[in-house]
Amino acid sequence: MGGQNVDNILRGSRVKRSSKKANDFTSSVSFDGPLSRHVVAINKAHMLSLIRSREVRAKVGKECLGFLDRLPPHMKVDPSTEDVHHWLEQKAVASIGMDAAGFLNLGKSRNDQVAAALRMEIRDRVLQILREAKALQTSLVRVMARYGQLLLPGYTHLQRAQPTTVFHHMQSHFEALAEDTERLIQLYGRVNLSPMGAAAFAGTSVRVDRTLVANLLGFDGLVNNSMYAVSSRSFVLETLADLEILMVDLSKIAEELVLWSSSEFGFVELGDEYSATSSIMPQKKNPVVAETIRAKCGSVIGEATAAFSIAKALPNAYNLDLQEMTPHLWRALDDATQSVSLMGGMLASAKFEPVKLSEAVKADMSTATELANELVRAHGVPFRQAHQIVGELVRIAVEAQVTLEAAAEDFLGEASKKVTNRAIKIDKVRLQAVLDALKTLMLIGSAGGANPRFAERQAVQNKKEIQKLSSWLEEKENKLNESRIHLRNEVRSHLKREVRS
Ligand code: ARG
Repeated sequence: MGGQNVDNILRGSRVKRSSKKANDFTSSVSFDGPLSRHVVAINKAHMLSLIRSREVRAKVGKECLGFLDRLPPHMKVDPSTEDVHHWLEQKAVASIGMDAAGFLNLGKSRNDQVAAALRMEIRDRVLQILREAKALQTSLVRVMARYGQLLLPGYTHLQRAQPTTVFHHMQSHFEALAEDTERLIQLYGRVNLSPMGAAAFAGTSVRVDRTLVANLLGFDGLVNNSMYAVSSRSFVLETLADLEILMVDLSKIAEELVLWSSSEFGFVELGDEYSATSSIMPQKKNPVVAETIRAKCGSVIGEATAAFSIAKALPNAYNLDLQEMTPHLWRALDDATQSVSLMGGMLASAKFEPVKLSEAVKADMSTATELANELVRAHGVPFRQAHQIVGELVRIAVEAQVTLEAAAEDFLGEASKKVTNRAIKIDKVRLQAVLDALKTLMLIGSAGGANPRFAERQAVQNKKEIQKLSSWLEEKENKLNESRIHLRNEVRSHLKREVRS
């Protein structure tokens, strides 16, 4: 019966005719591609369960499994079908005939099947993006090891605020990513549950062993309620929400690299591989990858917003609206995965400019807070008044175009008298020490602060975090690989069996 043309197997019963325009409009074939290999695996696992419970005869089961086993890894789905599930069944009928293929869908529905296939693809993609995130964290660790001790102006409101170090600044991004990866790890636990056996939504009288099917497909457990199993796309929304947060974190790094590589800042030079020139201005080196990552954050938020809007207020259980979420999920996953991957490479290519950085730290008044702290500690001035005194000195320095140190030397007595009624004096050596960026950093005692002495221990901790992620990834990857091999072996061993009827 191989290759025989079959009329649309889903037409002719309840619905006889449909318009091509309506078919094209409602078909998911154009974005079902990533699901197809999972749909084949699901069909195999489900059929093995039907054979075991004797819901189908061994011979029929063998023919179905033989058909599924012969399918090539990359399949071209016929665009005139409704979806990959419909296409596969149609192809089976054409290939092995209705007497065998007609049992493929016993006790299952496209509803539990698509939910299962989506979960299987998401778990693979979560592992993939986590691998990229690990590489990005490794790049950050390298940047910190190489440039960490350099001082860098820290900003609030994009105004110079207090000095910090490259290490401390990059550690903030490292921790953001550590949280993002942890969220994805937690998501994996909720995603990797099997909806199979839920059938359309009510479950089925056909003896399907839900646990067996789940195990054969590498799931860690079951989605319990059969209506929830087919109607919920919370796992898709959670994926998208996690990607949104991840992309917001990446967009901040991207924005900084755009700013820092400008001549206004001049703090870093990005690798040529991550830059482009202008078609008219030959001197230009544009940070195009950083800009694109910054923009992709907007795209991912858009995809997530679309999916959330589609999912809201749907009546239980399955509605075709759910299908419309899928392409948003794919685009968000593609954009986010590429962004993480490119960010890792781009950071590895970044060269920090020590001269520019030290000029920038010296030129600002970002140690003013420490001068106020000194007035509190050494002279008993209430902090609020110390803040006023130093504020006055800064104003004088800006007006007279001198350094804060010079202004303090000449005007501290006057300014403190005005505010506290007593003239305070700090000697020159002490003043220099208080206003020196590195020295102020060395005074920081609060855990997680910018003291360069904290870097070494933190670096050890960071490597441990990466190692932990690495082991988790390896464990999950191995488990999935084993389940794929197990499923294949179960199918092959059934195919080798002699069956009579
Ligand atoms: N193509 C559908 C989807 O992506 C599969 C489920 C269709 N179910 C149905 N009853 N029409 O969600």
